[in-house]
Amino acid sequence: MIRRVYLDHNATTPVDPRVLDAMLPFLRGDYGNPSSLHWLGQRARGAVEEARARVAGLVGAEPAEIVFTASGTESDNTALRGATAPAKAPRTGVVVSAIEHHAVLNTAKAMRDEGRVVVIARVDAGGILDLDDLAAKVGDGTAVVSVMLANNETGVLQPVAEAARIARARGALVHCDAVQAAGKVPIDVRALGVDLLTLSAHKICGPKGAGCLYVRRGTPMTPLVRGGAQERNRRAGTENVAGVVGFGVAAALAREDLETEARRVAALRDRLEQRLLAVNGAHRNGEGPRVPNTTNISFEGLDAEALLIALDLEGVAVSTGAACAAGGIEPSHVLRAMGLPPERVESSLRLSLGRGTTETDVDHAADVVTAAVGRMRRTRAS
Ligand SMILES: Cc1ncc(COP(=O)(O)O)c(C=O)c1O
Repeated sequence: MIRRVYLDHNATTPVDPRVLDAMLPFLRGDYGNPSSLHWLGQRARGAVEEARARVAGLVGAEPAEIVFTASGTESDNTALRGATAPAKAPRTGVVVSAIEHHAVLNTAKAMRDEGRVVVIARVDAGGILDLDDLAAKVGDGTAVVSVMLANNETGVLQPVAEAARIARARGALVHCDAVQAAGKVPIDVRALGVDLLTLSAHKICGPKGAGCLYVRRGTPMTPLVRGGAQERNRRAGTENVAGVVGFGVAAALAREDLETEARRVAALRDRLEQRLLAVNGAHRNGEGPRVPNTTNISFEGLDAEALLIALDLEGVAVSTGAACAAGGIEPSHVLRAMGLPPERVESSLRLSLGRGTTETDVDHAADVVTAAVGRMRRTRAS
């Protein structure tokens, strides 16, 4: 039987059984609407508020500063649009880093099409935000600056606290997409100095379709989704109670296990990386401090899509930086922003480990990747 190894935790993670157990009652008998005044509604309300406190605890926020949403993507959209909507001219522009997730980047681009000034800040060859470039681009016309904490493709950590100091000194609000950092490195919204911060449950062994936006107390924000008064008028719609409860437990577990899990996963990632970098013509993409679970490696002369398919056939799940776009495959905007040549971008694989990953898994994956690269190179040569 084929041995399966999942090394794509930056795409999504398995739901922790403890998370599932906590969610199930709210999909069965405890089906109340948290806005209902009766006992069934109040049971749901209590569970949502307990989850809010747990999620707040993961990032050092107050529970009232957490707004539940339906995804990290919705939170990113809300941060950019919600914080710029009340802004007064001339302070209406947006500055985002070049390596943001499409949830930020495409929102910013849509806002540009709608007439706002949107400026993209550069990163260096290692994939780290260029703070001098940011400082030059943030000014009196900037309403919001958005910088992610950890990049989803390289895992490289960004100087968010420094970026926030620059932005706030110039009067702008700061949003941080911390979706890929949560559960991997400690996060403290006060130490980061951000006004808005995005999280997503399914990247920390919680369910899909549950996210949140931290909104610092007093931050002016217009809701993206309108309707009822849920989430203190900041996000309308009946709460996804089971999802929110699962998010809360996932956040509590992530916080509890953070240090031991980060050490364990980093050792496995380094072991895998060492093996893969020993392959002829392999290069690591991304420099500097990284989250413990991610590595991004290019294999000279190979097409990453073909390699991914070969690995999939052998049960090893990884990802390429490329995303399917209308009309074909679009090479990674992150690796391109780092100035990597097209051949290197097109030959890059992302391998991301998680809570269930074992030493046997990484050793097997290293064997399979090494063999597949060798085989593909021999086929090309013949
Ligand atoms: C950095 C980053 N931001 C935002 C998202 C979007 O989160 P969601 O899948 O919950 O919409 C992702 C998911 O891949 C991500 O990696």
